[in-house]
Amino acid sequence: MIQDIVQGIIVANECLSGVFYRNYIQSWKEATSNQITVEGKAYDTDEWMNAPSSILSSISRRLHLQPDHPITITRKLIESRFPAPTYQKHNTLFPIVSVGQNFDSLGFPADHVGRSRNDTYYINKSTVLRTHTSAHQADTFRAKTSEGFLISADVYRRDAIDRSHYPIFHQMEGARTWSRSAVPEGTTLARQVWDDLKTIPKHDLVVEDPNPSFHPDRNPLQSDHHSPEEAEAIATHLKRSLEDVVVTIFSAVRAAAAAAGGSSASTSEPLKVRWVEAYFPFTSPSWELEVFWQNDWLEVLGCGVVRQRLLDSAGVPDRVGWAFGIGLERIAMLLFEIPDIRLFWSRDPRFLDQFRERVDGKITRFKEFSKYPPAPRDVAFWLPRSTPAARTPDSTNEPHSAPNPAGGLAPESASNAPSSSTTTNSPSASVSSTSDPPPAPASSSTATTTYPPFHENDLTELVRAIAGDLAESVTLIDAFAHPKTGRQSRCYRIVYRRLERTLTSEEVAGLHERIGRELVARWGVELR
Ligand code: DAH
Repeated sequence: MIQDIVQGIIVANECLSGVFYRNYIQSWKEATSNQITVEGKAYDTDEWMNAPSSILSSISRRLHLQPDHPITITRKLIESRFPAPTYQKHNTLFPIVSVGQNFDSLGFPADHVGRSRNDTYYINKSTVLRTHTSAHQADTFRAKTSEGFLISADVYRRDAIDRSHYPIFHQMEGARTWSRSAVPEGTTLARQVWDDLKTIPKHDLVVEDPNPSFHPDRNPLQSDHHSPEEAEAIATHLKRSLEDVVVTIFSAVRAAAAAAGGSSASTSEPLKVRWVEAYFPFTSPSWELEVFWQNDWLEVLGCGVVRQRLLDSAGVPDRVGWAFGIGLERIAMLLFEIPDIRLFWSRDPRFLDQFRERVDGKITRFKEFSKYPPAPRDVAFWLPRSTPAARTPDSTNEPHSAPNPAGGLAPESASNAPSSSTTTNSPSASVSSTSDPPPAPASSSTATTTYPPFHENDLTELVRAIAGDLAESVTLIDAFAHPKTGRQSRCYRIVYRRLERTLTSEEVAGLHERIGRELVARWGVELR
């Protein structure tokens, strides 16, 4: 019965207004069916569902597994520093995980902003697209199949679209633990860790590490579980392992720069890194590693001594160790001099054919190919008077602008604040990524509709749903309150661009108009 009505609406709408409304109704149909299927796995959806099909249909891309893709080359370069059998590599873990895996198992507090629907894609109240590879830490510890592991995977965060942000990106999680019960007679756990350290290659890096390994207030030792000697040994093993990664990456960067004829300071000065105290709910003490690159300190990764409660609840209470998380896009952008994170998603052979996995580990830098002209269009509107607290650009309305070491979000501050300021299409996510704006509220045509507050991430997502990768950026260019009425005005510039050819002005106008229409329908804005 419902199906028939829907079919009737589809037919009527096709006659009236064509493909746009058909897709619109398709989305609505999916939204009302309360179930989605992703790569053969069925999930019930509920009112928490906010993962658009443009995102779900990208799950199958798995850039970190594509041969000769820069993300794959970067992954393999880092993997080469963590040999088997000590370090087992996991590269095919599925991205849809429970809230328990993504947040609870790691000790994220219930009110952590990272859990909000504004930052995280939910399938239902208890199921999300993983926001980081740490989501698999507890399960991998529980499996007890190796002393150490590396997990590389795609991760998902609701985010801005610009050169360095994309809602899907890739991370690598690393961990190494030692078993207390396996320490041989006559030695200690700390001594065993120091012994293992001898296998890590020496380097000539300049390392600034001004702080003590732990500090009672700023970076506490887990004194109920670890002796100072143990924590010191684990911290040193962790830092040396990661310094080795940095040496490997940046030596490759410099060699590529030198091969390209560069002799700037970045290729001639000694490589310099520094350890900075940090906070993560699942490690203590914790650090970030920064590299001095092109006259600036660049955050590269987050890490620390794994919280014992995590290992206890993963069923390995006799183990102690370290973990780290690193974002692969940022490293790949440096390695290959790729100027825009969106290029990783390109299917253009002019991009893809530039990269080759080489046995000698040499990197060839990206060469810019001719770009077709951008088509900027502005959309200006008044927010509805009824919008309760239409957030301003400088409050939480601001998307993740400061990337964090592990890839996409701002670092978590010592106040335990989460990272709010903080990359064949799926058979099931059947709606094309350029055609499915999320359904508007059912009653949007009535005068009494109350609209949800407008949020910049919602606009970003709407633009992505309608224009897909044809949208290069969405930037707030003007915001003010009317001096008399107090009504809020916003103006955003959307830059459209196609990699393969010039977009026609009709195509751009079509996309832009749809975005305007949806803004009105979903948030009750008044276009100006
Ligand atoms: N999951 C963190 C993020 O996405 C990165 C991270 C930090 C991973 C510290 C770790 C760690 O394993 O120990 O921001």
